[in-house]
Amino acid sequence: MMMAILASVRCQHPNENLKYPNYKLPPYNHHSTHKFQSQSAQHHFQHHLRMVNIQEFHKAQRAEGPATILAIATATPPNCVLQSTYPDSYFSVTKSEHMTELKEKFRRMCDKSMVKTRYMYFTDEMLQEKPNICAHMAPSLDERQDISIVEIPKLGAEAATHAIKEWGQPKSKITHVVFCSINGVDMPGADYQLIKLLRLNPSVKRVMLYHQGCFAGGTVLRLAKDLAENNKGARVLVVCSEIVAGTYRGPGEAHLDGLVAMALFGDGAAAVIVGADPIPNVEKPLYEIVSGFQTILPQSEAAIEGHLREVGIIIQLLKDVPGLIAKHIEKSLVEAFQPLGIEDWNSLFWIAHPGGPAILNQLEDKLSLKPEKLRASRQVLSKYGNMSSACVLFILDEMRRSSAIDGAKTTGEGLEWGVLFGFGPGLTVDTVVLHSVSI
Ligand SMILES: CC(C)(COP(=O)(O)OP(=O)(O)OC[C@H]1O[C@@H](n2cnc3c(N)ncnc32)[C@H](O)[C@@H]1OP(=O)(O)O)[C@@H](O)C(=O)NCCC(=O)NCCS
Repeated sequence: MMMAILASVRCQHPNENLKYPNYKLPPYNHHSTHKFQSQSAQHHFQHHLRMVNIQEFHKAQRAEGPATILAIATATPPNCVLQSTYPDSYFSVTKSEHMTELKEKFRRMCDKSMVKTRYMYFTDEMLQEKPNICAHMAPSLDERQDISIVEIPKLGAEAATHAIKEWGQPKSKITHVVFCSINGVDMPGADYQLIKLLRLNPSVKRVMLYHQGCFAGGTVLRLAKDLAENNKGARVLVVCSEIVAGTYRGPGEAHLDGLVAMALFGDGAAAVIVGADPIPNVEKPLYEIVSGFQTILPQSEAAIEGHLREVGIIIQLLKDVPGLIAKHIEKSLVEAFQPLGIEDWNSLFWIAHPGGPAILNQLEDKLSLKPEKLRASRQVLSKYGNMSSACVLFILDEMRRSSAIDGAKTTGEGLEWGVLFGFGPGLTVDTVVLHSVSI
């Protein structure tokens, strides 16, 4: 295909392509044409391409309408952990019972986390056989990698299988994959493993995002939108798969932010299928992706970090994270919604990454949001904990389901426009503007 495009540009240059009289051929074009077996074959090939020019080709490659979300599905490991008993099991399995004060502090964090249940690949039985992962800081990267490299694509494939089922189209129509995970960096990566597990076409075009963090649930939608709108007929399978195999560790007095992570993080994978120009009466859009933004908050250096070391990923979460997000959030809302003439944040449906309850509470206060605005975000935090990039997609799934159950007119709790926020390392904020569809 690439050869054909370049050959077509070449045969117009310089006389026919008047809009680009100075267009210079890239040097590799000459190499590519050398592949033709004979002069006559090359002449025949170019003859058939004479009708195409670069602008027409560019336009024909693009979709007409906005990217839409055509299916959403989620998956978790089977092991459900109760938050009420977690301080006991965590301090027992990590052989830290003697740290009584720290255990009480951890219990306070768990009690205030708003989390009721979480799902984890790790069971207590498994962890008992992994003393280095249960230690506070022991070399354990190999062991963590062995788990992540297998389990992350597997959990992602489970969510993707459900999403493909909802979409109802053959897998062969998937043209792109965007895979996102904090853990398990490897070559070839989880994107490749997903293709093998799902038996997708080996020519599916892949993007792998490792080690981004919690904001990336917004990043993947932003990328999928650009892929879908710039490649006519594209169907992008987006998968966020997160397990705590990189960050799990025993408690340490000097690393209290790591303890916050242990109180909040859970495992989960979510998959969505994104495509523009849905086939009428065949594909059923759930949301339209209107626009996407990303920004680094001012004076937020070191607010959230994750360092990959021999001992796994060391998480740093400063106490100001909720305050910093609340302080700057309105700027992101104005940037995203001013072009649409929207100023009332209560007129939107809300999907906010529930990094912790304090983030949601401070957002609500700062923007004077009505209590029901963050209902779906709180529901997901309570049921699953903080699943990093997968969280916002779980919330999207929760929102379209509850909208239908409650008899709302649209997939956005009856409202037309919505905002999806990812918050994570940096501090980075990803903002996605969504448009609901009628139910
Ligand atoms: C952790 C959290 C659930 C605690 O709830 P809270 O309502 O703030 O309750 P408290 O302020 O009483 O905090 C409970 C304990 O956790 C400690 N704590 C809270 N945040 C902490 C942090 N970032 N680092 C270290 N300790 C922390 C508090 O000092 C307190 O300890 P104490 O009971 O000994 O005084 C809440 O602060 C939160 O949601 N934080 C945001 C987490 C975050 O940044 N997530 C981003 C990931 S994307």
